[in-house]
Amino acid sequence: MPATQTAYVQDVLARFRAQILKLTGISLSASKTSMIEQRLRSRVIENKFTKTEDYLAALLSDRLGPQEMEMAVDMITTNTTSFFREKQHFDYLSDVLLAQLLSNRREAVPRLKLWSAASSEGAEAFTLAIVLAEAQRRGMRFDWAVLGTDISGRMVAKARRGIYHADQIQQIEPALRHRYTMASNSAEHGNLVRMVPELRAKVHFKQMNLMDANYPVDDGVDVIFLRNVLIYFETEARQKVVQNLQRHLRPGGYLFVGHSEGMSVQCAGLEQIKSTILRKTS
Ligand SMILES: C[S@@+](CC[C@H](N)C(=O)[O-])C[C@H]1O[C@@H](n2cnc3c(N)ncnc32)[C@H](O)[C@@H]1O
Repeated sequence: MPATQTAYVQDVLARFRAQILKLTGISLSASKTSMIEQRLRSRVIENKFTKTEDYLAALLSDRLGPQEMEMAVDMITTNTTSFFREKQHFDYLSDVLLAQLLSNRREAVPRLKLWSAASSEGAEAFTLAIVLAEAQRRGMRFDWAVLGTDISGRMVAKARRGIYHADQIQQIEPALRHRYTMASNSAEHGNLVRMVPELRAKVHFKQMNLMDANYPVDDGVDVIFLRNVLIYFETEARQKVVQNLQRHLRPGGYLFVGHSEGMSVQCAGLEQIKSTILRKTS
């Protein structure tokens, strides 16, 4: 896009930002023009445009169809993630909360349900799975399931494969890496590892937009991780998402947000027990 924007370019960009806000809750400031251009480059080329603004104009006029809009949204999302990101959350879950959650249950083998609500390519969901599997190895009696959801179909497809570059699993400590990942034995995929089938069987992923009015997800969830996604939303959207999510929590269940997001979360029925951890009161 030209350095000095014409009224046409400005208009098309403003309309695109408004559409992204409406569809995803993601607030793109006017300073994000080069990011938009960079992330949509492959879509511009694929659709045989030379100028990003012409691609955007066609996209917004519906000429490219709803699937193209979905792909554009997908490209706009920021999917940065890693295993054991903000490790203190997983330590707290493992050392304190799991025992607490289980102590409130009457079943012989209670089933814990955990949800990574902006799961990107799945590292957060599989980290939760590792924590749960390790707790079982230590002798805690429970069954579990982890759900990962994300707006990005591309990320959900990646997460379902459960395949990562060897570099990506370096944050997993060696003994756990050894226990829960398998190296590829093909030379072509020498740098790739896959999460073991025992974890993949219990971790499921689906595409879901946090802006939707209803979530196709069970109630009675014990723990929701909603980390590093609220930062992209405006205040109103943040409140709405937290409110919708907390309805799916079991009373006494926990909501985790990212380290920079704690201050932005206030919701009736949730009490803050740490700066980034909230508990459903009733
Ligand atoms: C930065 S990643 C965070 C991943 C992970 N929670 C973590 O902390 O490592 C943010 C994710 O939020 C997803 N996302 C953004 N807007 C969303 C929405 N409206 N509904 C669902 N997911 C959304 C993006 O696709 C992206 O994968």
